[in-house]
Formats: sequence, C-alpha cells, structure tokens
Amino acid sequence: MQNLVYQECGMYFDSRRAHFLQDRLQRRLKECRLDSFYSYYRLLISNDGKAELARLLENLTVNETSFFRNKAQLDLFHKHILDQILRQKQENREFSLRFWSAGCSTGQEPYTMAMLVADALSYHCLRNPSGHEAPLPKPLVPPPWRVEILASDISYTALRAAQEGTYNEAQMGSVDYTYRLRHFDKVGERYAVRKALKELIHFDFHNLKTEYLPQRNDVIFCRNVMMYFDEAEQRRLIEKFARCLNPGGYLFVGHAESLLGLTEKFTMIYRDTGTAYQKIEGTA
Ligand SMILES: C[S@@+](CC[C@H](N)C(=O)[O-])C[C@H]1O[C@@H](n2cnc3c(N)ncnc32)[C@H](O)[C@@H]1O
Repeated sequence: MQNLVYQECGMYFDSRRAHFLQDRLQRRLKECRLDSFYSYYRLLISNDGKAELARLLENLTVNETSFFRNKAQLDLFHKHILDQILRQKQENREFSLRFWSAGCSTGQEPYTMAMLVADALSYHCLRNPSGHEAPLPKPLVPPPWRVEILASDISYTALRAAQEGTYNEAQMGSVDYTYRLRHFDKVGERYAVRKALKELIHFDFHNLKTEYLPQRNDVIFCRNVMMYFDEAEQRRLIEKFARCLNPGGYLFVGHAESLLGLTEKFTMIYRDTGTAYQKIEGTA
C-alpha cells in the first residue's frame, strides 16, 4: 500500500509516519465497508478503483497553511526578487509575469502571492511611468503588464476551498487591516476574497509526481510539500522545477526544506533569514 501511494503521488511514509497511513487506511476501509487491507488494495488497483484512490490520497495530504506564511521569505520575494524581475522584464519590454503555487492547499499562499505581486507592480509603475493611460478605477495590474498565477494541488477538496476564497477570523489572523480593506469583503462571519484579486489566479489540479507540469514560470512556490517526499522523489521534482522555470527563475521551498546536496542547477540566495533558490543560467 505504501508503494502504491508513493508511485501515485510521491508521498513517502517512513516508520515515523506509518501509523498515520494506517489510521487513514482504516477509515477508508470502514467507509468502503471492506474487511481487510488486501480487499481494499484490490479495489484500489482495479479499473473501478480510480475514484477511491483519489479519495485516499486526499485523506493522506496535510493541508496546513496560512496567509503570509514565513514573513522573512516573503520579504525577500516582495522587496528584492519581484523588484529585480520587474526591472529586467521592463528592460526587455516583456510585460508578462507567470507565478506558480505548487501545492497551494486552501489558497492562502497564492492569494498572498497575488497581493504582494499587485503591490510590487503598482510601486514599480509609480517609479517607472510607462506612458500608458491607466483606466479608472485603477486595475490591480496596470497595463501593459499581465499577471498569471497558477495555483495547483492534488486535493480537489483543498482546491474547491481555494477557489471559493472565503476565510474565517482565525484564518485571517495574519492578514493585516490594509490588506483586508483592499482585497476582502466581509460576508456574514467570513472574509471573501474580492473578484479582482481572484481573477489573477487560475486554480487547477496537478499531481507533482507526473512529468508534464506547467512551463515558463518566473517564480515557483512549492513550500511544505517536498517534506512529505523521500530524497529520490525530491531530486526528481527539483529537476522538473528547473525545467518549468524561465532562465534565472526562482524557486521557494518551505523553511524546513532545502535543496542543499540535491541539485547543481540552483544557487541559494538570502536576505536576513529569508531564503530562495535561483536557477543557474544555462542549466536545464
Ligand atoms: C502542508 S500543505 C502546504 C501549503 C502551502 N504551500 C504552504 O506552504 O502553506 C501541502 C500541500 O501539498 C499538496 N500535495 C501533496 N502531494 C502532492 C502532489 N503529489 N502533487 C500536488 N500537490 C501535492 C497537499 O494536498 C497539500 O495541500
């Protein structure tokens, strides 16, 4: 069963996490009214088992996330990396930007990225007027710039919540009032992401285990996902990310994750305690 899960999604259950796998399998077994792991396994590998396999994988994912997670890393993204990317694109007269939140869970990460990108762009345009007439009310993405943020996950339940984009007070704890005012409406007890911010994001299912992943990204966030994979799978994923990034593109991983010793294709950059990895020119 461990192998099947590993083959399907890259998640690796070592002895420390075996009890978690066992517990989730028991629950699915009960739900399917089956009396042995063997019969459940037969179901999973059968032609009719695809939907159940997807349900099992959903039950095995850890979806913990929050807005503005890892502040130091986001400062590096916002104040240095975005600034660098925008200046370079402007020089090349290339006005499209592509970001990817790979393993976006319930959406707090891609919405955080969208808020930071919108701010960085307005500030960039204030300092470098393009001569383009800005329509009123001011759009989040001033012309001629175009922003696409892809947010993907293997869990349909998480993706549905991300797409809905409504959060309770506890989930909003790390969103300060200026961001709440600009990007959220209060609907009953919850905060709903405004349409303009939502429109920057495209939500989609992608299993990071597969070969065909979204290409031509300027920045990839894949935070707190690789930690559930074993080393071989982490190496494969990093290779794929190198191919999915534009030359000189950036990869952000979680604070408990590192590319150290796993690849020659990236170099680490840091400011204060925030770290990211930049693809080395000419690789991949
Ligand atoms: C702990 S959450 C991290 C969310 C967000 N990136 C953050 O750092 O706050 C991990 C997410 O990775 C997703 N995930 C796990 N394995 C995956 C795979 N093979 N392909 C795509 N997403 C995966 C899970 O469904 C989960 O939503």
